[in-house]
Amino acid sequence: MYEDIVSESLKARRNSYCPYSHFAVGAALLCGSGKIYTGCNIESAAFTPTCCAERLAFYKAVEAGEREFTAIAVCGAPEGTVSDVFCMPCGVCREVMREFCGSGFTVISVIDEKTYKAFAFDDILPNSFKGL
Ligand code: THU
Repeated sequence: MYEDIVSESLKARRNSYCPYSHFAVGAALLCGSGKIYTGCNIESAAFTPTCCAERLAFYKAVEAGEREFTAIAVCGAPEGTVSDVFCMPCGVCREVMREFCGSGFTVISVIDEKTYKAFAFDDILPNSFKGL
């Protein structure tokens, strides 16, 4: 069911620009339209402008007019290595997901094409701030 985004996240990770942390992340976001948007982490010498893989995938999709989101696959590990732990989205990325996603959204943490785990979004950002 999630094979396409799992494999797209692994591909996107290859383009990670991470000369400071040497931690490479890839993400692939499946939209209600059926389209997939990918992202990788992009770092900066000034550190703060660094963009996570998940956020880049969301921002590309939102800019393209997407507003319905089904699932995101994420894989992260030290550059040049294959992940051996399930990498999870950071808190800032979870807040960006909250902006656009409801309880049906799924986060898939990927180790390789055959090894991944699915999490219900509400389970990884419970009791979240929902706006004023
Ligand atoms: N990173 C992501 O791309 N996604 C996350 O959810 C966690 C962290 C990136 C940011 C930075 O480039 C590197 O991983 C180390 O924190």
